[in-house]
Amino acid sequence: MATASAPGKVILFGEHAVVYGKPAIACAINKRAYAKVKKNSSGKINIKAEVKDLRYVKKSIEVSFEQFNIGSGIDIEVSSEIPSASGLGSSAAVSVATLYAIAKEFRKSISKSGLAKLGHRVEKEVQGAASPTDTATSAFGGILLIEPSKNKIEPLDYVNLNLVIGYTGEEKSTKELVRIVKEKKERNKVLESIIECIGGVTCEAQELISEISVASSEKEKAKKYAALGELMDINHGLLESLGVGTLRLAQLVHAARINGALGAKITGAGGGGCMIALASSEKRKKISAAMEKLGFTAINAEIDREGAK
Ligand code: MEV
Repeated sequence: MATASAPGKVILFGEHAVVYGKPAIACAINKRAYAKVKKNSSGKINIKAEVKDLRYVKKSIEVSFEQFNIGSGIDIEVSSEIPSASGLGSSAAVSVATLYAIAKEFRKSISKSGLAKLGHRVEKEVQGAASPTDTATSAFGGILLIEPSKNKIEPLDYVNLNLVIGYTGEEKSTKELVRIVKEKKERNKVLESIIECIGGVTCEAQELISEISVASSEKEKAKKYAALGELMDINHGLLESLGVGTLRLAQLVHAARINGALGAKITGAGGGGCMIALASSEKRKKISAAMEKLGFTAINAEIDREGAK
């Protein structure tokens, strides 16, 4: 029997604009999907899954069987700590964990980059379209800069980010939100400049993250974190103008800001799902408590550095 797991993610900067070739920065979080696989002699594929959307499990089985030339039956169990359709990359984590557990059970060697590619194929085949962001972050872990136009995925320097995730409890469809933005963009040419602008914010954030990692004093670091928070606020405003904000997301964003967040924004596709706040370690508790007082779920997320394992 083989087991594998893979983390969910938050997008720190650049969602939606990444669909149009702009860079994005994503970060793996300490919430995981798990897969357990055992060959069987019946030739059947028996799936036991505690996940809402079975399409990603089934497609991952199909894709890995084809990739690794597998003809045998399997018993597979899949579970996940990541709420589905929340913008935290649950489908990517489920796909990557399933693919990896199958590869391990059949002793097929696969690199993290190979896993990211196969995971991306699963997402594309299920959803029709997907950027490589979620599956790459799930496979590699850490903080990644995704540059689709250069076909490049690059780990960013080690920095600690105190993130609070606020979950609206509203499920959303990434595909639907991507379609809404596309249609709005066709109606309003100004959205091209907004997407361009989001790309610019992401590039500035990338520089700041590198600067934080080499900052010479705590004061210098604090200044950079504050600047990063401000960029999150700007990115949030730009996402609102793409039309992916909701009342509940706005309530969470403002609750975080009022309670001392350095910055707060929608994360992922929007239209429900989650937002993230960047906080100092002292303010984290206060921000989570404020979110919960409003009836939302707060998640204190740590960065996952391991990726698929
Ligand atoms: C979804 O997590 C992020 C989007 O940019 C879509 C994608 O990158 O595939 C909205």
